[in-house]
Amino acid sequence: MKVLLTGGAGFIGSHVAEAYLDRGYRVVIVDNLSSGKLKNVPEGAKLYITDIGAPELEKIFEIEKPDIVNHHAAQISVTVSARDPLEDAKTNVIGLLNLLNCTAKFRVRKIIYISSGGAMYGDADIIPTPEDYNAKPLSPYGIHKVLGENYLRFFKNEHDLHFTILRYANVYGPRQDPFGEAGVVAIFTNNLLNNKVSKIYAYPENPEGMTRDYVFVKDVVKANLLAGDSEKDTAVNIGTGKSTKTYELYKILSEITGRNIEPQFADARPGDLKFSCLNNKKAKDILGWEPEYTLKEGLAETVQYFNSI
Ligand SMILES: NC(=O)c1ccc[n+]([C@@H]2O[C@H](COP(=O)([O-])OP(=O)(O)OC[C@H]3O[C@@H](n4cnc5c(N)ncnc54)[C@H](O)[C@@H]3O)[C@@H](O)[C@H]2O)c1
Repeated sequence: MKVLLTGGAGFIGSHVAEAYLDRGYRVVIVDNLSSGKLKNVPEGAKLYITDIGAPELEKIFEIEKPDIVNHHAAQISVTVSARDPLEDAKTNVIGLLNLLNCTAKFRVRKIIYISSGGAMYGDADIIPTPEDYNAKPLSPYGIHKVLGENYLRFFKNEHDLHFTILRYANVYGPRQDPFGEAGVVAIFTNNLLNNKVSKIYAYPENPEGMTRDYVFVKDVVKANLLAGDSEKDTAVNIGTGKSTKTYELYKILSEITGRNIEPQFADARPGDLKFSCLNNKKAKDILGWEPEYTLKEGLAETVQYFNSI
C-alpha cells in the first residue's frame, strides 16, 4: 500500500507518517515546509518539498501512483484566515482542488480529508456536538473546511473517489509548535518549563476561559489508520466528548510540570469560540474508534517530550 500524505512534516502529519511506516506502508510526503520541519519527517518516508497547489503535483502523482491520499496540509491559522481569506484559500481551497484533480486523473481509490469540528460548528448550541449539526463556521478557515468537505462529495459522485472526513477536536501532543497562536497545551507547557507567564483568554461570563475538547495525537493517529480501512464515505468527529476549561488545563499542566506560576487573564480575542466539544459516538459506530488516553496521561507524555528537547 502506498500513501501520499500531504502535510507530513507538520505536527499531526508526522505522527501519521510514522504509523503508516510501522504498518509497512510506503509513504510519500508532500509538504512545502511553510510550518512543517524537515526533522519531523520520519526516516523511510520520501519527501517532496512542493506546494500542494503547484502544477508539479501532477508529476508526483504520475511517478508515485499512490493507492490512497491522506490530506493534512493546510493553512492552519484562524487569525491569518480572518485577516486574509484569499491567502487561506490558496492552500485550503485552490491547493485542495489541485490535489483532488490529481486524485481523479490518476484514479486514486480513497482520500482521508482532515477537517475541524470546532471551526466548522462554531459556538454550537448542542454540546457535545454531533456530525449532523448545521455548520456555522465563524472564520474563513472554517468556511473553507466546509467547502472542502463538499468538494469531496462532488469528486465521489463524478470520479468515484471514496473518502473519510476526520473532524478533529483540539489535538495536542509531542511536536506541536509552542510558538503559534493556537496549540495551548504546547504553549503552556513550554512557558511553564521556561518559567514564563502564560495568558488565559476568557469571556466575562466564563472567567476560567473557554472550554475545549482536547484529544491526544496518538489517538488521532489511530483514527487515521481506521479511516483507511473504512468503506463508508462519511464524516466523523475525532474528539473525547469531554469539555475542559483553559484554566483547568493550566492547573493540570502546572501539577505535572511541578511549576507554580500564576497565569495572566486577558479578554477573549475576536472570533475565539466560547466552547467546543465533539460527540464521538459516530466514530465508535463507524470506525470502531475511541480515545484511549485520558487527558492526564496525554499531557504527561507531552510534558515528557517538551522536557526532553
Ligand atoms: N492541531 C489541531 O488541533 C487541529 C484541529 C483541527 C484540525 N486540524 C487540521 O489538521 C491538519 C494538520 O494540522 P497541524 O496542527 O499538524 O498543523 P501543522 O502546521 O503542524 O501542519 C500542517 C503542514 O502542512 C504543510 N503545508 C501548509 N500549507 C501547505 C501547502 N500549500 N503545500 C504543502 N504543504 C503545506 C505545513 O508545512 C505543515 O507541515 C490541518 O489540516 C489542520 O487544519 C488540526
